[in-house]
This record gives sequence, structure tokens and C-alpha cells, in this order.
Amino acid sequence: PALKDVFKDRFLIGGAPNRNVVTGRDPNAAAIAEKHFNTITPENDLKWQLIHPRPGQYNWGPADSFVAFGEKNEMFLVGHTLVWHSQTPRWVFQDEAGDPLTRDALLARMKDHILSVVGRYKGRIRGWDVVNEALDGNGTLRDSPWLRIIGEGSEDKRYDFIEHAFRWAHEADPDAELYYNDYGLETSKAKCDGAVAIVKHLQSKGIRIDGVGIQLHGGLTYPSVEGLEYAITSLAATGVKVMITELDIRTQARGYRGADIGRVRRQSTDDSTALSTETQKKLADKYAEIFSVLLRHEKDITRVTFWGIYDRTSWIGGSPLLFDRDYQPKEAFFAVVKTA
Ligand code: XIL
Repeated sequence: PALKDVFKDRFLIGGAPNRNVVTGRDPNAAAIAEKHFNTITPENDLKWQLIHPRPGQYNWGPADSFVAFGEKNEMFLVGHTLVWHSQTPRWVFQDEAGDPLTRDALLARMKDHILSVVGRYKGRIRGWDVVNEALDGNGTLRDSPWLRIIGEGSEDKRYDFIEHAFRWAHEADPDAELYYNDYGLETSKAKCDGAVAIVKHLQSKGIRIDGVGIQLHGGLTYPSVEGLEYAITSLAATGVKVMITELDIRTQARGYRGADIGRVRRQSTDDSTALSTETQKKLADKYAEIFSVLLRHEKDITRVTFWGIYDRTSWIGGSPLLFDRDYQPKEAFFAVVKTA
């Protein structure tokens, strides 16, 4: 069965194609996306480093291919991401002499970037991860050049870079949904409370925010049902939509990195990742548990997106997705289908 049919009337279901998928170089992965997904997020190609590598120089080609692929298949397109501390070139935060940019200059750069990128895909990319991973594990704003340069000085400036990013994204495409996206919201209550605070802050200023993305990079033993439910219910209580935006479940020790199109690292040829029957079962059980929780809260969940398409090209390596290295559905796939 096709996942998008299985979860029809519950939530959108999607994946994160890399460049090869949307440009026809990985037709089998494209076939999985076309069959199973009604929404996609580009794994890397809309990130600052990839789309705006040098001052004034935009590299639109790969993102255009992403949009064309999604439109051809009538998918809900998600843009990822506009303001992030990672995969953002160093020059963004520096002047020509290499010194830190002034607050006003960085805001001007952020504005230009957001208006250009969101503007180009106006009416076509329908939702944006406007700000990504702005929180640290305690739920306070993470130390980053965005915060240091734009938020420095006074307490009431702390949220400024987030406010501005959302305002400019809205200006660039008034019909687009705007999201805050982060990881670990389902494992740290403090961090989840920090996300709730961001939502409430924007709402109190009358700034549009439509949803919060729980990335949900999980493992065989986490998140707990309770942690995931806490995140969904406390975020939904603010009135925004909740979505699972980068779902995968790590099956092996941290540190291993697999394929990496974003930094053009070579694809892993490590095949020693076949799962034991026991691990297959654990993976299937964890996926089934997560989907049971999501279905229990289906009125608050609008979308569930996997971070990748199939195991061979997953950013964390191992066997974290529903389709194996040969594009075949795994035990975990059938376990997920059964929850519906
Ligand atoms: C990852 C990609 O999957 C990799 O290819 C890239 O090298 C690094 O970024 N949180 C996010 C995603 O919001 O953008 C990250 O994607 C994974 C963690």
C-alpha cells in the first residue's frame, strides 16, 4: 500500500529528497517518493550555504528542480530553511575585513536573503521552516551569530532575529505557512517549553506563525511516549499546527555518518549495516509506537515527513528509514501501515 493513501484524512506524509532524487539520477528513490509521499522537503538545497553560497550569488538550479519535481507530482512543498546557525556560510556574519557585521547590516542581509528565496517560490512552496534550531537544550536561545549580533544588548532584543525572519517571510509570501523547527522537543521538556515560549512571543506581537516542527530524530529507545505526547499537547495548546518534520530512527551508535549530498561527501559504501532480526523488530516497534501516538493526536498533527527516502542515502547511515538499501519496504514499513 502507498503510505499517502494509508494516512489520507489523517495527515500528510512525506520525505526529504536529496538533489539526485529530484534531478532524475536516483529514479528508484524518486519512484518511492512519487508512490508514497504527498509532501516533500529538500534535504539540503534550500539551505543558505547551498542556495546563496557567495554574496549576491544565488544558485537556484537544484531548488528549482525540487519545486518542479514536487509540482509534477502535486505535492505540498516545504521550504527548509531560512535562518539557521548551521550550513550558513561564514561570510554572512562578517564584513569585508572579516570583522563581525553590525546588527543593522546583518538584518539587511537576512532580509535580502528571505525576500529573494521565499519570493522566488511564492505560491509554490507552501510552508517554510523560517527559523531552525534556535534553542539550546535548556530551552533558552542558543548562542549563535544570529543571536549574538542581532539579539545582543538587551533582554527585549533577544527574540528580534526570530521576529524579523517571520515578518519578512510573511512579507515575501503572505499565503505561505510559517514554522519554527527544532530537534529534541520530544526528549527535553525544557526545550519544548522554550519552543512554546517562542510561539507565544510571536503571537503576542501579532506575528504570523502557523506551526512548530518536531524534527524527531529518534533512536531504538527514544523518544518515550510520554515525552512525545508532552511535546504535541503543549505545542498544540498554543493554537499552532504540530508536524513531525525529520523523522528517522537511529539504529547504530552516534558518530557514524552516511551519505552526504549537502557537503558533497561521498556516499558510504558500508554495507555492514544489515539489521539483525532483533533490531529489525525493535525498529518496527519504535516506529509503530510513534505512529500510534501521532494517530492518537491526529487532530493536532498536520504532516509527518521522513528525513530521507531510503536507508542508503540517509544522513545518519545505518537503517533508520522505512525502505532499505535496495529500496524495499522493511518490517518497520508494514508495522507503520498497521497502525492506521
Ligand atoms: C542534514 C542533512 O540531512 C545532511 O545531508 C547535511 O549534511 C546536514 O544536514 N536538522 C536539520 C536538517 O534541520 O537540515 C539536517 O539535515 C539534519 C538535522
